[in-house]
Amino acid sequence: MHTDIGNALGGDPELTRDALDELDADVAAAHERITDAMADREFGYRSLNLPETADPDAIRNAVAPFSDSEAVLTVGIGGSALGAATLSNALESDVDAYVLDNVDPEHTTRLLDSLDLSRTAVNVVSNSGTTAETLSNFLVVRDAMERAGVDWTERTFVTTGPEGNLRSLAEKHDLPALDVPEGVPGRFSVLSTVGLAAAAIQGHDIEAVLAGAADERDRLAGSLYDSPAYAYGATTYALAERGALTNAFMPYAESLETFAEWFAQLWAESLGKDGQGQTPARALGATDQHSQLQLYRAGPRDKLVTLVRPTERADRGIPETDLEGLSYLGGQSLGTLLDAEFEATEASLTAADCPNVRIEIDRVDERGLGELLFGMEAACICYGELADLSTFTQPAVEWGKKAARGLLGGGEFAEADAVRGKDRLV
Ligand code: PA5
Repeated sequence: MHTDIGNALGGDPELTRDALDELDADVAAAHERITDAMADREFGYRSLNLPETADPDAIRNAVAPFSDSEAVLTVGIGGSALGAATLSNALESDVDAYVLDNVDPEHTTRLLDSLDLSRTAVNVVSNSGTTAETLSNFLVVRDAMERAGVDWTERTFVTTGPEGNLRSLAEKHDLPALDVPEGVPGRFSVLSTVGLAAAAIQGHDIEAVLAGAADERDRLAGSLYDSPAYAYGATTYALAERGALTNAFMPYAESLETFAEWFAQLWAESLGKDGQGQTPARALGATDQHSQLQLYRAGPRDKLVTLVRPTERADRGIPETDLEGLSYLGGQSLGTLLDAEFEATEASLTAADCPNVRIEIDRVDERGLGELLFGMEAACICYGELADLSTFTQPAVEWGKKAARGLLGGGEFAEADAVRGKDRLV
């Protein structure tokens, strides 16, 4: 992964080179803290050890019984779904991948009606094993399988922590079960069993994902100028401190659209604490040049834009044309056009003093994705250290989970009673 922060300097909000030089001492301290915590296998920091500790053979063995699948359905939500979705949507495979995260009944019905459940591998993923959305969706999927005459125990496996309803279910029905590694929070789990099992069923090279992540890990260093991940984490932090409270994350590759969703979760859930954080906005180049870019260039001076692209991609030529005024396009390629759009956006933002950062990988392949995923995780942890945040907790998310359960009668939760009793204005 390459990070170019040149256009993050001198804009509005203003970040100077001197300020970054000064921050570099804190980056060195953060790096020391991170490497010590990795060595001590501390909660959360353990995620950065996954390039070594994940076991691709064990994952492949566990999913081997599902090698006849024409589709894999991940039932999970948040960090238990987005990693798998990111990899599946970025990489091509003959095995289709679907994710059931939301509990929208219309969507669930449409999706289940479209699948041949006798040829679908179902991976139920929940670290806690208690999440209401995941467990409900699983019960619905299981019911659909039974109605279709499919032995659901033959087509289902679980990925879960040591305790919880899902672990009990797996034990009761003797389902294949993958362990969520201890000390790895959901949004940092893409490089573990959680993110890699579906990819393995799809035939992706999960070793290459981990090798890309290991390359990025090896680029972590005690200066933001020597580490692409810390360059991004430190720059985004410094800009947020100066008022760039929105980070518009804009990959120029359709295959990375879900990656932006994954990034949004990582950034929001990890850093949105104690009145701090930076709101991630999801955008897609070049599509959103025709919508959101207006705001980014000319709206409030409270943002930075992160532009992401692969430097190589399979290209497709634009045919020659004698249509008047279009000869400049004929003989070019869609890839050249997309790169021109990327560079035009970068120039346009810079000219309008909007801070922007360029992130590049060689290709959207397993290795490139490993670099990008690990790089963003390390950037996020670095930001959390600089801002003195508890990066690996998510009390607001847990509050919502408990409240929803409480409202449905699934547990005591005093705050839920308060919500229930609240007067409505309309
Ligand atoms: O990052 C997180 O911790 C969350 O997004 C969780 O992954 C999400 O809430 C799902 O939790 P669980 O895996 O326990 O079902």
